[in-house]
Amino acid sequence: MSGLILRTLNSIDWDFVLPRKGYVGPPHWYPGTFIPALSDSLIEALTPEGGVIFDPYSGIGTSGWSAIRTARSCHIADINPVAILAGYVTTSLLALKRIDANRAYAALGSLSKLVDHGDDLFGAESLGGSDLDHAVEAISSPKPAELLQQMRVGLPQWEPLSRWMARETMAELGSLLARLDQLKGAYLRVLGMAMISAIARTVGSQHASWGHIADNVRPRELKPQSVRIAAMRWLNRTRAFIDLPMLPSRAACPPQTSVHIRDWSNSGEDGPGTADLLLTSPPYADAIDYTLAQRLSLYIMGHTDDDILRMVSGEIGARRKRFKSDSRVQWSEQLCNALASQITWLKPKSSLCLVLPHKDSGRSAGEDDLKTTLEQLGWDLFFERDRSIHQSHTRQSWTSIKKETILAFSRG
Ligand SMILES: C[S@@+](CC[C@H](N)C(=O)[O-])C[C@H]1O[C@@H](n2cnc3c(N)ncnc32)[C@H](O)[C@@H]1O
Repeated sequence: MSGLILRTLNSIDWDFVLPRKGYVGPPHWYPGTFIPALSDSLIEALTPEGGVIFDPYSGIGTSGWSAIRTARSCHIADINPVAILAGYVTTSLLALKRIDANRAYAALGSLSKLVDHGDDLFGAESLGGSDLDHAVEAISSPKPAELLQQMRVGLPQWEPLSRWMARETMAELGSLLARLDQLKGAYLRVLGMAMISAIARTVGSQHASWGHIADNVRPRELKPQSVRIAAMRWLNRTRAFIDLPMLPSRAACPPQTSVHIRDWSNSGEDGPGTADLLLTSPPYADAIDYTLAQRLSLYIMGHTDDDILRMVSGEIGARRKRFKSDSRVQWSEQLCNALASQITWLKPKSSLCLVLPHKDSGRSAGEDDLKTTLEQLGWDLFFERDRSIHQSHTRQSWTSIKKETILAFSRG
C-alpha cells in the first residue's frame, strides 16, 4: 500500500468527535448505521474518483451516499427489504442530483402534492412520471418498476398492523397508499413507499424504542397519529439530505447506483469483479434484530409474520439467535463463508475495509477468523485502528458495544 494512503489514514481522527459541518440526519432511523464521515474518509483515501464501491451489508446505504457524494459509483446489498428500499431512493436521489438537481427536488415536490392535497412544497417544476423514470433508469439499477415489484409483495397486512397502530391512522395510511398507486411513474411510487416505510414507526403507537418493536412489546394504548404530518417531515428531511454539497466530478459519465437484495447466509453466486473497494460493517453478533425492528414497514409492504420469521432465520448475527450456545461461532463462520463470494465483486487490484466490533465486546473470534480467512485468500492487512462510538447518533451507541475496529486489506 502506498505511503501516501497510509499517511492519509493515519492522519484521520477516527472517533469523529466533532460533528462534520453540514451533515444532517439520514432519511431513515435504521439502526446501526455508519456515520458518513467514516465512509467518506475511507472511500476518499482508498479509491480514485470514478471508482466503484461495494457494500454487501449496506443497511440504508451510507457507504453508497459517500460514494455518490465523492463522485464514485456503488453496488449496495442487504437482506432487509426496508434497507434496500431506503438505500435505493437515497442513492438514486443523490445520483439524480448529480445529473439534474431540479429533477431530484421535483420528485420530492410531486410527492408533497400527493401528501398535502395541495401545492408542490418545493416549488420545483413538476415532472411527468415517465420522464423521471427514464432519468432514474439511466443511473440506477434495477429499474424503479422492477424494484417496486420486488418490494411490494402483497396487500398491506392490516390485521397485524392493527396491534401497533390506531384505526384512524391505518385509514389515513390506506388512503395515502391508494393515492400513491394512482401515480403515473414507478419512481414516484418507489419514493412514496420509501417515505411510508420510514414513517411507519412514527405513526405507530409504540414510541419507547425500535427495540420494543423488535421484541414484540406492543403499545398499551393505540393513539391516532397524523400520517400527513409525519410524511411532510420526511419530505423536508429528505430535501435537507439531498441539499448537502457534493465533491465536483470531472468524469464524463455520472455515478451509477445499483442495489441488490441478497442473503449472504446462502448465496454462493459470483459478483461482477468491477469494484475498487469493498467497504462494510457486517452485522455485529447478538446485537440487533434488524428485520424484526422493521416489522411495521414490512407489514405495509405485504409481508406476513411467517415471511418475517423466514428473513430473520437468514439474518447473520441476529439478536434473537443469542440464546443458542454457538451463536457467535455461527456468526463468525457465516461472515467468513460469505467473504469468499463477496470478494468476487472486486477487481484483481483492490482494497477491502471491514468495521467490526472491538475485541473488548466479546466478539474477538469474528475479527480473528476474518483476518485468517482473508490472509488465506491472499489479502494483506495494512491498516488497523480502534475507534470509540460515543456520539449519540452513531452506530451501536445503544448496545453494550462502545468501540469498533477498522481493518483495511489490499490485494494485488
Ligand atoms: C451494521 S448493519 C450495516 C449498516 C450500514 N453500514 C449503514 O450505514 O446503513 C448490518 C446489515 O447487515 C444486514 N444483514 C444481516 N444478515 C444478512 C445476510 N444474511 N445477508 C445480507 N445482509 C445481512 C442487516 O440487515 C444490516 O442491515
